[in-house]
Amino acid sequence: MLPPASLSSLVDTSASAIQTLLPYASPPRVGFILGSGLGMLVERFENPGLLPYAQIPHFPPSSVQGHAGRLAFGHLGGIAVVAMQGRTHGYEGLAPWQTAFPARVLCRLGIQALVLTNAAGGIGPDMKPGELMAIVDHLNFSGANPLTGPNDETLGPRFLDLSHLYCPQLLQRMRKAAHARSVVLREGVYAMMAGPSYETPAEIRMLRLLGAQAVGMSTVYEALAAHHMGTPVAALSCITNLAAGLGPLLSHSEVTEVSAQSSARFCDLLEGFVQTFT
Ligand code: HPA
Repeated sequence: MLPPASLSSLVDTSASAIQTLLPYASPPRVGFILGSGLGMLVERFENPGLLPYAQIPHFPPSSVQGHAGRLAFGHLGGIAVVAMQGRTHGYEGLAPWQTAFPARVLCRLGIQALVLTNAAGGIGPDMKPGELMAIVDHLNFSGANPLTGPNDETLGPRFLDLSHLYCPQLLQRMRKAAHARSVVLREGVYAMMAGPSYETPAEIRMLRLLGAQAVGMSTVYEALAAHHMGTPVAALSCITNLAAGLGPLLSHSEVTEVSAQSSARFCDLLEGFVQTFT
C-alpha cells in the first residue's frame, strides 16, 4: 500500500491528538525510538506521561515481544524529551511508510534530533554482544523505501540526498557523551534486512564483504522519513549477538536479554547525549 498524497495531514492529525491527549508543558527537544529490550531509558525520565499507541490516530500498533507500544514524554537531565517504547517493523506486514509514520509524527512535534536505537547482530571483529555502535551509514537490503509513492512536497523533496543521513554533528555529540560517561562506543555501517527470519551465514559473509559491521531489521525507514522532513538523525545499535554463522544459533530471547544487560551503559550514553542540548 502506498502513502496517501496527503500524508502530511495524517501526520498533523496524530501530532495534534497527542498534544490533546497528553498536554505537556514544554515541547520535546529530543525524540527517541527505543528498540527491542531498550525501553528502560524511560525509567530515567522525570515525571513521565505515557500514551499507548492504540490511542493515537493513525499510529500502527507494535506487536513484537519486548516492545511496550507506548509513547513516553518527560524530562531527562532537565531536557524535554519524548520516546517511543517499541516500534513496528516491515516484517509485521506494514508498508514501509506506515512503519516510518511515528517517526514523522515525532518530527512534527518539533524535536531537534531523532535518536533511533535497535538491537543488532554484530558482523565486524569489534562487534561482540554487549557493544554499543553508533550508526554512521547504512545498507538498505530490505528491498523497499518508505519514500516510495506520491511525494508530499510539504514534507520533503522527491529526490533526497543521503550523503549525511546520519547527522555528523549529532554523531560528534554522541562521541563526546561516550567519552564523558566512559562508555566504549564503536562506529559502523548498519545493514537492514527485511526479516523476520535472521540471516543465513552466506548473507552475513556478503554483508561483511560489502562493509557492514551490524545487521538488523529496523531503523532505516525511520531514518529516511525523518531526514526527508529535515530532522537531524542519530542512531545507535546495541549488539546483542554475533551474526549468523559467526557464533551460536540466534534467538529473540537472547536479543532481549543482552540488550537488557547493556541497558545501564546504553541509558548512560543517551542521557549524556541529551545533556549536550543544555
Ligand atoms: N540479525 C537481524 N536482526 C537482529 C539480529 C541479527 O543478528 N540481532 C538483533 N536483531
